[in-house]
Amino acid sequence: MPGPMQRFSMHELEFDAREAAAAQAAILGGAWQGHGRVGRRVEEKLSAALGGGDALLTTSCTHAIEMAVALAGVEPGDEVIVPSYAFVSCANAVVQLGGVPVFADSEAKTLGLDAASVEAKITGRTKAVLVIDYAGLAADHRALRALCAKYDLFYIEDAAHGIGARQDGKALGTFGDAACFSFHATKNIACGEGGALWVGRGDRLALAEQMREKGTDRARFLHGLVDKYTWRTRGSSYVLSDILAAVLEVQLSRLDAVTKQRRALFEAYLARLQPKAAKLGLRLPVVPAGAEPNGHLMWAMLDGKRRDPALKALRAAGVDAAFHYLALHRSPYAQEHGFDRGALPMAEQAAATLLRLPLHSRLSVDDIKTICERFEDVLARI
Ligand SMILES: Cc1ncc(COP(=O)(O)O)c(C=O)c1O
Repeated sequence: MPGPMQRFSMHELEFDAREAAAAQAAILGGAWQGHGRVGRRVEEKLSAALGGGDALLTTSCTHAIEMAVALAGVEPGDEVIVPSYAFVSCANAVVQLGGVPVFADSEAKTLGLDAASVEAKITGRTKAVLVIDYAGLAADHRALRALCAKYDLFYIEDAAHGIGARQDGKALGTFGDAACFSFHATKNIACGEGGALWVGRGDRLALAEQMREKGTDRARFLHGLVDKYTWRTRGSSYVLSDILAAVLEVQLSRLDAVTKQRRALFEAYLARLQPKAAKLGLRLPVVPAGAEPNGHLMWAMLDGKRRDPALKALRAAGVDAAFHYLALHRSPYAQEHGFDRGALPMAEQAAATLLRLPLHSRLSVDDIKTICERFEDVLARI
């Protein structure tokens, strides 16, 4: 009699007694508020892991994106170019400030923003370009940064997927004027809900600190630089509690090991599926030259209309595969507000045909082999 079928979940974290002990120590030690001694220490460690710049811990990546768009100086009516194949926060952050999200298309190899599509959308109202390092593979920062320099635009890197990955020796999340990280439970390292804003421009750091502290100079007060703090700019309550920062500190100490394992699994997927991709009717990520991926997620686009039946069959076969983003320019909100300015073929194709396979550090290379066998079997049947 065969035993019960092994199930493979989409996400699992390396969370154990160490994270629990760190949270307990923070609580018992009175480190409860944000931007306390634990939070500041974690910010230093994160900045060091990124190779420089200033990282500010935030309550989420969504909030870091809101801060980054505000740092770009976006005012009502200003345009920000964002990918349509993206998380909703990328567009919402623009709308929150009265700005207009202008959707651009992605390129096929990494699903990063396509520079030609971006250039075609630049107008006199464009203030910034926001890009995603999808799946922990770098967008074409060289081309996109060059466009931003040419048109004097603020460059925002959404590195929600990017922690621990590098491109040409440089950490993802350090290519923008500002960059945003997520430590949400589905990311490579996490503290439940959390994020960070990385500020690459020293001239905007004080403003970022004020925005994070409800628009006040409380950070300078905490550092003993002023004897009172007051309202200086617009802002909100974006500071991560030291209790969660303590959990993140343990997670950061696991980053290298988690990245190594996830990268090995990502490469095992590619080594197995790439040679048969054409036969299986799959389009897979193409790792750019000079990339050191972090294995954040494994995606495949299926030809025809096979994605949804494949998801159903995979789940029945014990593999918790998932779709990902829907194209933002086709969303009800974008339609109602006139943000849909025509077809974006790659975003629409990814929304309709992309699926993600399980990838987390508790899987082994043998597990990837089993998942691929089940995936290939499903593809042969649908
Ligand atoms: C590319 C991208 N940016 C931003 C976010 C939002 O992250 P958070 O949940 O930390 O706000 C996500 C969420 O998964 C994401 O995929």
